[in-house]
Amino acid sequence: MLQVLGIKTDLIRPGDDLAASLEKAIAGSGLALQDGDILVVSESTVATAEGRVVSLHDVVPGTLALTMAARYGKDPREMELILQESDEILGGIPGVVLTLREGFLYPNAGIDNSNAPPGHVVLFPADPQKSACEIRERMARGRKIGVIIGDSRTHPLRLGCVGVALACDGIEAVEDARGQKDLFGRELKITRKAVADNLVSAAQIVMGEGDEGIPAAIIRGAPVAICEGHSPIPSIPPQECMYIGALRCGPRPYTGGYDQLIEQARKAMKDAYAPYSGFKVGAALLTRSGLVFSAGNIENASTGAGICAERAAVAKAVASGEREFEAIAVVGDAKQPISPCGICRQSLIEFGENIVVIMANTKGDALTATVGDLLPKAFTAKCLK
Ligand code: THU
Repeated sequence: MLQVLGIKTDLIRPGDDLAASLEKAIAGSGLALQDGDILVVSESTVATAEGRVVSLHDVVPGTLALTMAARYGKDPREMELILQESDEILGGIPGVVLTLREGFLYPNAGIDNSNAPPGHVVLFPADPQKSACEIRERMARGRKIGVIIGDSRTHPLRLGCVGVALACDGIEAVEDARGQKDLFGRELKITRKAVADNLVSAAQIVMGEGDEGIPAAIIRGAPVAICEGHSPIPSIPPQECMYIGALRCGPRPYTGGYDQLIEQARKAMKDAYAPYSGFKVGAALLTRSGLVFSAGNIENASTGAGICAERAAVAKAVASGEREFEAIAVVGDAKQPISPCGICRQSLIEFGENIVVIMANTKGDALTATVGDLLPKAFTAKCLK
């Protein structure tokens, strides 16, 4: 039978020996860790014990923090800490910014002002994996246990938090269920079970987020194997993530689908007329009916009369009666993938903001975006109404 046993402790303060406090609390509840138990500890408790509590009084916001704080309606000192603690701020809404840190998404870089003394915030544990290993080492005492540092997170468009594991030791965070059969005998293709996250969610049923004073829980009887050692919580790259892939505007790495079109654009480079710059560009435009119109750039002694490869391809296609386009590939011999110039973006968006643009170079680097990504808020026929 699966049991979730909340561990009530005294208030954990910076510098406290968390493992000792938890052991005392477990014993005080008349419990003892057993083989197979999984101990879930909340990240804010771990961070507090590790002294990751910062007084906002001591934080001096920089210029960027001041600007971002005004934009997102946040305390500039908190914004300064968010900038320091994150790799990238992806955007936000009033009060919360979505940040990337070591490949994972966190609200406000994981900086929490709940469960922190007034005027203070709690940062993430500096190294959650190390913390998980240390707690396990200290508390196992010869028993086979797992330890998870747990946090909470929301799912897009869902109200309410679910559990998420920041690090774990002694269990596999994700179980690969691919190859297993579904109810109808079909092989499961993409199913992986986020075991550690699910265990944190179970623990949070008893832990709560407020003044319960239950910063940890023992999960007993879960059908989860205890193993030696640990591996990092697996992540997926942004371009393979459904949410990021679907929502992120702007160029992202090309992941296939238009190899032939890129090849045709590369071939079109040969016909470029670029005696002045010597910079040959090729473009291949794919129509909805499956035809490809390709061209190179066409320069002129009167520089401004020159035309880029993309617009030459558009002209060729439109002159042939085509109006609906699916994608355009652009290739040049440059270090970076070739990015259509502003005039070409304007030219392309005339025929639809969802045309896929594949920006490539002869080395094989490629990025992709829609024309709408490349030219947001464009002036189009709609604006004439
Ligand atoms: N060029 C293109 O044909 N397409 C682009 O996307 C960027 C620039 C051409 C214009 C000019 O003939 C040469 O590259 C150097 O600017």
